[in-house]
Amino acid sequence: MNLITIIKKSIPKSLFEPGKRIFHFFSDKKIYTNFNVRTIYMGHQKTTYRGIKAIKCPFDYVIYQMIISELKPDLVIEIGTHSGGGALYLADLLTVIGNGVVHTIDIAPISDNLPASHPRIKFFTKGWEGYDLKETEGFCKILVIEDGAHTYEHSIGAIKKFSPLVSVGSYLIVEDGILDELGMKKSYNGGPVRAIEEFLKINKDFVIDRERCDFFGKNATFNVNGYLKRIK
Ligand SMILES: C[S@@+](CC[C@H](N)C(=O)[O-])C[C@H]1O[C@@H](n2cnc3c(N)ncnc32)[C@H](O)[C@@H]1O
Repeated sequence: MNLITIIKKSIPKSLFEPGKRIFHFFSDKKIYTNFNVRTIYMGHQKTTYRGIKAIKCPFDYVIYQMIISELKPDLVIEIGTHSGGGALYLADLLTVIGNGVVHTIDIAPISDNLPASHPRIKFFTKGWEGYDLKETEGFCKILVIEDGAHTYEHSIGAIKKFSPLVSVGSYLIVEDGILDELGMKKSYNGGPVRAIEEFLKINKDFVIDRERCDFFGKNATFNVNGYLKRIK
């Protein structure tokens, strides 16, 4: 038995369980990693994709690409464009699978050339309230991402308007329920988590996909309880 194995055997197994500090021993040096929602939040605010601000949690980037490659949607509707990095990421994923377009909606136009000139992205600037649902005519498999203002009122409003578009087997992804965990729930009047709970009480066509939400650990996503799968 080498030294590292002896040391590892002497550490309580519980320290290696999810959510606990994970200790790595390299000779006599002790290093620990601790996933902290606040530092991940700070990082996600600064994240870029191809140089464009793309505000998403890293875990969710991975989950998104799995959903896109499995689902192969014809249309992805993103509510909340910001700088367009998220739309660019989604559009590039669609390019890789060779199918689909992104409709990204905000209340102001974006100025960056890269997303603005992407052939798979169409921009809408009248908010989710002003998006004409006729724009979705002719698309079969539709995925909706609600990543707008995040107040309860905006979230539930957008969910009610856009959920009927989601095709069976596809998703309504409600972003940023992590605001609760970050202590911002009050400023958003309950935010996305409250909107999701209320929506699911009245709509039995959707369920929380626990496999997606808990992929990296219990709700180890910024879209807390936010991967809603349409089942009927
Ligand atoms: C969290 S950011 C979106 C981040 C983006 N999806 C990304 O991946 O980088 C939220 C955006 O929602 C936009 N927003 C606010 N009210 C909105 C509304 N009524 N309709 C659509 N977007 C709205 C804001 O202007 C802001 O750009």
